[in-house]
Amino acid sequence: AQDKRESLFIVTNWAGKFFRETLWDTEEGRTIGLNYFKERGYREDIIRKFELGYSPEAWTALYDRSKADGHKDEFLEATGLIIRKEDGSAYDRFRGRVMFPIHNLTGRILGFGGRTLKTDKKVPKYVNSPESEVYHKSDVLYGLYFAKKPILDADNCYLVEGYADVLSMHQAGVENVVASSGTSLTSGQIRLISRYTKNVTILYDGDEAGIKASLRGTDMLLEEGLNVKVLLFPDGNDPDSYVQRYGSAAFKQYIAEHQQDFIFYKTHVLLRDAGNDPIKRAEVIHEVVASIALIPDAIKASVFVRECSSLLEIEERLLIAELNKIRIGQAKKS
Ligand code: UTP
Ligand code: MN
Ligand code: MN
Ligand code: MN
Ligand code: MN
Repeated sequence: AQDKRESLFIVTNWAGKFFRETLWDTEEGRTIGLNYFKERGYREDIIRKFELGYSPEAWTALYDRSKADGHKDEFLEATGLIIRKEDGSAYDRFRGRVMFPIHNLTGRILGFGGRTLKTDKKVPKYVNSPESEVYHKSDVLYGLYFAKKPILDADNCYLVEGYADVLSMHQAGVENVVASSGTSLTSGQIRLISRYTKNVTILYDGDEAGIKASLRGTDMLLEEGLNVKVLLFPDGNDPDSYVQRYGSAAFKQYIAEHQQDFIFYKTHVLLRDAGNDPIKRAEVIHEVVASIALIPDAIKASVFVRECSSLLEIEERLLIAELNKIRIGQAKKS
């Protein structure tokens, strides 16, 4: 099994080199792929650091090269680099896309995300490598290999949605950042972060999906005892578009001024949605207390109770009573 894993690693890292060389050393790669990255504002040093690449339009460019280089079909299929058809023939999964390799903690490539250059809504924006024996998506955070040391130094980790967000933040000089790659956070990913820091700041897209995701993944972060802050970008921006539009200095200032503790953020968002409806406001109070109850540190929790009682316009003793009720329930369960 160890041998097989090693063979898969060899193939994914070989493919990474193929996509890189296609980007820098071919006419198609330079005029289409490299030009795309530059139009988006990425510097060459960032493109090289993250080992970005380009996959040719042709149906079997990577497959043909793999045969010439002596790689076995078996391993290309197992890593999802080629897709086998019913008639026995095979073709490349990634075609005409800019390629983002996904690294493990030692910098080896596990898989890829490939972005289309088309604006056609029918084409999926990103195609990703499937799960494989080397790529377990729930245990991987994009960018962590490059962010390990910066996270330790800053004692904080920024959590973003996408590949592009990680790149633009590095370019802006903010390197303690990882991406969940559009899926909801898993406990494996949270444990990974908590090896390096207990402080997480969520920077999700300022769209409906981003707001939903920011409320969803966070209960798990609280349960792990992490301190969670949240910030959404205005007008549908994401960290990438904000950096590229307004520059690094404005980006850093925006973060510094707008990050909010998760409990207060959640209270605000829910209260805003509830409006003046008393039943809905009561529901909000229950939900906020439920989140506070997840915080393992009782002193920290009591600080939140005090602050939230004024935000929610409800007496502190009622919140404490509700909190204790939930805690007793938790104690019975465990
Ligand atoms: P977004 O739709 O926010 O894309 O999805 P993005 O990262 O801002 O991409 P750009 O700026 O348009 O290039 C966030 C993340 O969700 C995953 C990707 O990891 C993406 O970076 N995603 C999104 C997919 O896997 N497939 C998709 O079709 C779309
Ligand atoms: Mn989005
Ligand atoms: Mn984006
Ligand atoms: Mn986005
Ligand atoms: Mn209740």
